[in-house]
Amino acid sequence: MQDYPVFLYALYAWLALAIVTFPVLLTITAPYGRHTRQGFGPMINNTLGWIIMEFPSLAVFAALFIMGEPAKSPVNWIFFGIWVVHYAQRTFIFPLRQPNKHKQMPLLVAGSAIFFNLINATFNGFYLGTIEPIYTPEWLMDPRFIIGVLFVVSGFIINIQSDSILINLRKPDETGYKIPKGGMYRFVSCPNYLGEIMEWTGWAIATWSLPGLAFALWTAANLIPRALDNHRWYHSKFDDYPAERKAVIPYIV
Ligand SMILES: NC(=O)c1ccc[n+]([C@@H]2O[C@H](COP(=O)([O-])OP(=O)(O)OC[C@H]3O[C@@H](n4cnc5c(N)ncnc54)[C@H](OP(=O)(O)O)[C@@H]3O)[C@@H](O)[C@H]2O)c1
Repeated sequence: MQDYPVFLYALYAWLALAIVTFPVLLTITAPYGRHTRQGFGPMINNTLGWIIMEFPSLAVFAALFIMGEPAKSPVNWIFFGIWVVHYAQRTFIFPLRQPNKHKQMPLLVAGSAIFFNLINATFNGFYLGTIEPIYTPEWLMDPRFIIGVLFVVSGFIINIQSDSILINLRKPDETGYKIPKGGMYRFVSCPNYLGEIMEWTGWAIATWSLPGLAFALWTAANLIPRALDNHRWYHSKFDDYPAERKAVIPYIV
């Protein structure tokens, strides 16, 4: 990365910003979903919002990876596959599975997510497509690759299973909230976030890269405060909420 000083310094700044943002987000509740409230400007359709805010991650990462001039190793293509599978699911399948098609979200939330996604996709796509195209085949046997991919796969399964449990709580066009049960909900209030954090932590370990680390830190900085907000919200709404459930990390947080 020394040959790309602008990339490197921008990445250091982005890493530092993730660390600074975490305590700030502990004091701000993002105004979407159950925390939606007035005063955050124009609203857009929730399904459309999810598609337009996640598509840049898919498109920019794929374009930068494929357009990067050096020949890519098979290991790089495995990383490409992980990113594309995750973001194809998040961009198209997840929003279209939502039961309430009339729900709205603030345009501001979609806009800030687009910004966040564009930057992370740029760092990771350019890194894997141009800067570090040659992970040798030996990397497949490296403990960092094996442990990282195990985290990615188990996180992906937990994330999809947990989102599916939420989706199945409502009938079409229902809007109320129920206590989710089963799967990793036995342990935490937001296992979908736990799965997401595991995926990108695994990505950071498997790629053993600063762009991967930055994305994992940003994901945790976004989702741990959100999980704490959701956890407090469940306790305030349901008297019979399971007392042993933690917010996002089983037995710990
Ligand atoms: N990488 C990142 O930084 C990042 C950031 C944000 C989200 N994500 C991922 O995107 C996905 C969705 O995130 P989210 O923040 O929207 O998750 P969420 O707050 O858990 O909501 C997911 C869906 O389930 C519904 N829902 C939630 N709790 C419910 C309950 N108790 N009863 C009935 N329905 C319920 C929500 O409806 P309402 O909308 O009506 O509340 C929404 O449609 C997750 O998999 C998350 O990991 C990733």
